[in-house]
Amino acid sequence: MALPKFPITEAEIDRLVAVFYARVRVHPLLGPIFMDAVGPSDAAWREHEDRIASFWRNAIGLDRSFSGNPMLKHLANSDVQPELFPVWLELFRTTAAEVLPGEAAAGISALADRIGRSLSMGLVQFRQRESAPPKLGSLA
Ligand code: HEM
Repeated sequence: MALPKFPITEAEIDRLVAVFYARVRVHPLLGPIFMDAVGPSDAAWREHEDRIASFWRNAIGLDRSFSGNPMLKHLANSDVQPELFPVWLELFRTTAAEVLPGEAAAGISALADRIGRSLSMGLVQFRQRESAPPKLGSLA
């Protein structure tokens, strides 16, 4: 097993993910977006949370089970707007601080900030490119 980037257990990640998405589901801005994408059933949410827990274990270096493409997933969903990232990250940080020991909360929140920033910048860049006028090429 690889060394994690900071001390955290699989069970702690599972608990954080469960509490975080329970809050996401009832959040006035984030809830409807996730409900549309994931669906209302408990089974669908369990599946989503399993994927997200595996994403975190991979990002932290606990295992390599995650295979997915978060950039494409977010890009494909036009409800996911860059302005919402600070909202998501703030809820994540608050939840982590409540649910995890200090060092784990700080570690995973810093990682979420880094990943969130790059996802959000990616969305802005890709969407700008998509809506830009076509390049006519060099006339020189
Ligand atoms: C504006 C903030 C965000 C919104 C509204 C959002 C929304 C979503 C939605 C709707 C999905 C798809 C769920 C599905 O179809 O089953 C998703 C997947 C995912 N999100 Fe986010 N997300 C946000 C920020 C983040 C951030 C900051 C992270 C990581 C730090 C993250 C990590 C992921 C991952 C790992 C997946 C699964 C990707 C996959 O299956 O390949 N999201 N998100």
